[in-house]
Amino acid sequence: MGEMTKALVVGAGGGFERVSVTERPVPEPGFGEVTVRLRASSLNYHDFAVVSGMWGPPEERIPMSDGAGEVTAVGPGVADFALGDHVVSTFFPTWLDGRPEVVGFATVPGDGVDGYAREAITAPATAFTHAPAGWDHAEAATLTTAGLTAWRALHDDGRVKAGDTVLVQGSGGVSVFALQFAKMAGATVIATSSSDEKLSRLQALGADHLINYKQDAAWGETARKITGGRGVDHVIEVGGPGTLEQSMEATRTGGHISVIGILTGVAGSLQVVPALIRQLRLQGVLVGSRRQQQDMVRAIDANGMRPVIDSRYPLDALVEAFKHQESNRHFGKICLEM
Ligand SMILES: NC(=O)c1ccc[n+]([C@@H]2O[C@H](COP(=O)([O-])OP(=O)(O)OC[C@H]3O[C@@H](n4cnc5c(N)ncnc54)[C@H](OP(=O)(O)O)[C@@H]3O)[C@@H](O)[C@H]2O)c1
Repeated sequence: MGEMTKALVVGAGGGFERVSVTERPVPEPGFGEVTVRLRASSLNYHDFAVVSGMWGPPEERIPMSDGAGEVTAVGPGVADFALGDHVVSTFFPTWLDGRPEVVGFATVPGDGVDGYAREAITAPATAFTHAPAGWDHAEAATLTTAGLTAWRALHDDGRVKAGDTVLVQGSGGVSVFALQFAKMAGATVIATSSSDEKLSRLQALGADHLINYKQDAAWGETARKITGGRGVDHVIEVGGPGTLEQSMEATRTGGHISVIGILTGVAGSLQVVPALIRQLRLQGVLVGSRRQQQDMVRAIDANGMRPVIDSRYPLDALVEAFKHQESNRHFGKICLEM
């Protein structure tokens, strides 16, 4: 039996008032395991849903799917990591490579199993990858969910190439990563936001064209016009039912829409005919595999990009951090530091 470590838990059913501090054991690592001194996590809409009670857990749970820190003990049979390595967790510890084989969130830390709102963990080494060289832990923690979702949507599903046009919706974690990865790939980016101030920040990150979706309800048509009538090659769809029709309006014949988010709700009516006529590819996305995360880290190392961090909160201020996320004032990622 190893030491005890501080952890935050949310009670069954979730709810901000059910978040409390506790302790959990950190066993010595067994075969194939590592112990990681966790230093950071980052907030996602999914974590918000678990902790706020929107999708509260059936039993007490350590929340948070993203975790980054340094390796402090290495069990036998671990070849990938050495003491002191900086690592970042994977969203699906059991989906290592190849086609999606995971259904839902049963194996996901911070949802179906305990997550990373704690100061240390002993886990299979395959639940982590190396972090990008030179990134601090909070930066690395942004990759597990938001970074990998954007990466996989563009590269694995979208096969994005230089000269493509990518439309990103809003200025949250996934969309800002998608903007950065699209620019890294040599694509043209059309960015939308509810705020002109955020649009100028998106422009500073490389967005080529800007649309305020609050002022322009027909933003899909506007995006199509921007492409000279052809339509965009890829849409990073984080809005869901309230945005999908405009996304289809924006997309070229045979183009690709990554169905990622549900910011406008989980159900709605949809005109199917435009999808048929335009022969669109609507690809559902659930984050990605460990192999895709390793590819992403390699690309980041080769290109020297940095993530956009809106703010950093101490672990104990988890609820305050979620309230900031709920306020929609953030731009990029909100992080926790331990
Ligand atoms: N399927 C997956 O694998 C996966 C992975 C990660 C996230 N997601 C989902 O993707 C969505 C975004 O996640 P996130 O972590 O990036 O969230 P986030 O950081 O909280 O981003 C929220 C941002 O989205 C923008 N937004 C809100 N409503 C919008 C609308 N109607 N149209 C366009 N933009 C809108 C806003 O940007 P402005 O203020 O600039 O307007 C807002 O700041 C969530 O639904 C989340 O559950 C899915």
